[in-house]
Amino acid sequence: MKFKPRSVRLKDERSVLLRMALVENAEALRRTIQTYLISSPYVPLTPEEFTPGPQEEEAWIQGFIDQENSLLLVAEYENEIVGNIDLTGSHRMRMRHTGMIGMGLRQEWRNTGLGSHLLREMIRWAELNPILEIVWLEVYATNGAGRRIYEQAGFQQIGTVPDFFKSEGTYTDKVIMSRQV
Ligand SMILES: CC(C)(COP(=O)(O)OP(=O)(O)OC[C@H]1O[C@@H](n2cnc3c(N)ncnc32)[C@H](O)[C@@H]1OP(=O)(O)O)[C@@H](O)C(=O)NCCC(=O)NCCS
Repeated sequence: MKFKPRSVRLKDERSVLLRMALVENAEALRRTIQTYLISSPYVPLTPEEFTPGPQEEEAWIQGFIDQENSLLLVAEYENEIVGNIDLTGSHRMRMRHTGMIGMGLRQEWRNTGLGSHLLREMIRWAELNPILEIVWLEVYATNGAGRRIYEQAGFQQIGTVPDFFKSEGTYTDKVIMSRQV
């Protein structure tokens, strides 16, 4: 077992289970990701572009189970997946010590403290992982909640790519952040 499941308590006192994603969660996880792609302007993937087939989604989850420097966690409440965080370790020999983080929550679960809990658990895991040394991520410059939790978790802004994202003619900068683990 790569990650021991654990319960965390949110700001509203609800308890949510954080655990590794299993292949049999593929459809439930796909539905959750689809909802936050629709409800958030801060994930650079449109709902129309996110159309993995069942086998593709299962293979994606299996990859996290097999890959020593990678982890995919889900947040579960009353048997429903309400959010996820992934750390994708590089497959390349010269970058295996690095992993990129992505995450998202169903809209009704944002600003509850859940994102901070997921991030904290992921960093704790990365710190214990013998391969990983650097975790990094990319975030919309306008994503206030995202940037706040990353800063609180010890990430430092290491760069900006101006106008990297473009939506309906409006440009937004991309901020790159990293942290040693
Ligand atoms: C980003 C995300 C994962 C954060 O998770 P969360 O559970 O909402 O975050 P938390 O409740 O743990 O913390 C949010 C913090 O940001 C603060 N915050 C919220 N909106 C903010 C804003 N617009 N500007 C600045 N800070 C803000 C909150 O006050 C809180 O800080 P505090 O704990 O000091 O009070 C979640 O909001 C989400 O899924 N967003 C949509 C998808 C997304 O943006 N994914 C990340 C892509 S990089």
